[in-house]
Amino acid sequence: MKTRILIIEDERTALHALSLLLEDEGYGILKAERGEDGLRLALQQEPDLILLDIRLPDVDGITVLQRLRAGYSDAAVIVMTAETTSANAIRATQYGAFDYVSKPINDEHLLLLIRRALEYRALEKTVRQFRQTPPNPSIRGIIGHSPAMQEVYKLIGRVANSNATVLITGESGTGKELVANAIYEFSSRCHGPFVKVNCAAIPENLLEAELFGHEKGAFTNALSRRVGRFEQATGGTLFLDEIADLVPSLQPKLLRAIQERTIERLGGNTPISVDVRLVAATARDLAECVARGQFREDLFYRLNVVTISLPALRDRREDIPLLVQRFLARSERPVDIRPDALDRIMRHSWPGNVRELENTITRAIVLAPGGLITPDCIQLSGRAPSRPEASPHLSHREGFWNVIRRVEERLLRDALEETRGNKAEAARILGIQRRLLYEKLNEFGIG
Ligand SMILES: Nc1ncnc2c1ncn2[C@@H]1O[C@H](COP(=O)(O)OP(=O)(O)OP(=O)(O)O)[C@@H](O)[C@H]1O
Ligand SMILES: [Mg+2]
Repeated sequence: MKTRILIIEDERTALHALSLLLEDEGYGILKAERGEDGLRLALQQEPDLILLDIRLPDVDGITVLQRLRAGYSDAAVIVMTAETTSANAIRATQYGAFDYVSKPINDEHLLLLIRRALEYRALEKTVRQFRQTPPNPSIRGIIGHSPAMQEVYKLIGRVANSNATVLITGESGTGKELVANAIYEFSSRCHGPFVKVNCAAIPENLLEAELFGHEKGAFTNALSRRVGRFEQATGGTLFLDEIADLVPSLQPKLLRAIQERTIERLGGNTPISVDVRLVAATARDLAECVARGQFREDLFYRLNVVTISLPALRDRREDIPLLVQRFLARSERPVDIRPDALDRIMRHSWPGNVRELENTITRAIVLAPGGLITPDCIQLSGRAPSRPEASPHLSHREGFWNVIRRVEERLLRDALEETRGNKAEAARILGIQRRLLYEKLNEFGIG
């Protein structure tokens, strides 16, 4: 199809001359002598480029330009003006014109500008299309290229543009909130609001009003009407974090909101329809909560339409060097890490996952002498690695002191294992005096 140019120009002779020139160049021509006619043609005919005279009989050219940019057309616009230095010409580019030409018009110059504007527009279109196809979300703050994370990226890409409810699971610190953000950012709802509610952080008696809002006078302190988080999220995404902690009394209300897409404010009895995409997250095993009767099964199924399970860091150790490198790069001063320090990081079990790693690196950067991280700078949490045998089965029938001794021994052995026999560090991690550590090691006959 021919490239089409709309000329909006009230001087007949100029309009005629321009259309002849451009027709000769092989462009299809649309003509308007008034601003309103020009806008209508722009909307109906979708030209590729618009030549706009700034002085028009009905509306001024800048107003036409503003309306064009406000959604009438995505055509490239070149403004024609009598005075080059006029503020109008500058304003024109500010308001989104590609360029402006001064009258009398130099044909060669105009043709060159037109070609450039059209090329630019084609490029812009490609970029826009590129933006619409979900790029690899790993660039959005989520780090990791292990196969397990690749699966996560694929899922994010697949669910982002649907309205399906997503349940994100994974241990603490595995990046559930990052993923919730990514789902929102890559969705078609990215221009709507992203509203976050932490179900565990809000006191039970306030959570209902927080989620669903209330009418004036709904309860003693309800002095005015309040719009809840659900309503705030209309047109966007509602992220319910720590969903397993949602109190049983609110579970049926959430279920209803999901099923019927309507809510009621406290003290109100008109259902309000809400167009909200739900993303929920929990570090707890929701199915187990259902089995224990703490979470409604029907709600579980409603939330669990698509599940994204985030891998624990210890199950994707190949991502650790990359994570370390990225966290180091955030430092203001250049820092490097010694191979034996990285080795220490690789061996740790990271019960607190990426959050723990991030914090450890942040601390290490502060401690690094001369910008080089040595194993001493890596302060690992005293928490025992999360292996099943780490929590010895205890029974009160063994007697108080026997149980205490067993726990003590376990703690010592774990700390030594983690520090690979470094007693000073083991004492530091355990928060006890070195002397006490030696006494206890003797007591238990640990070498
Ligand atoms: N894959 C990742 N790449 C980069 N940073 C990450 C990644 N995963 C987690 N983080 C970082 O770790 C920290 C914890 O992440 P986030 O809050 O998303 O975890 P979470 O799973 O919601 O944890 P919790 O269950 O404790 O709320 C954040 O600072 C986040 O930026
Ligand atoms: Mg979280």
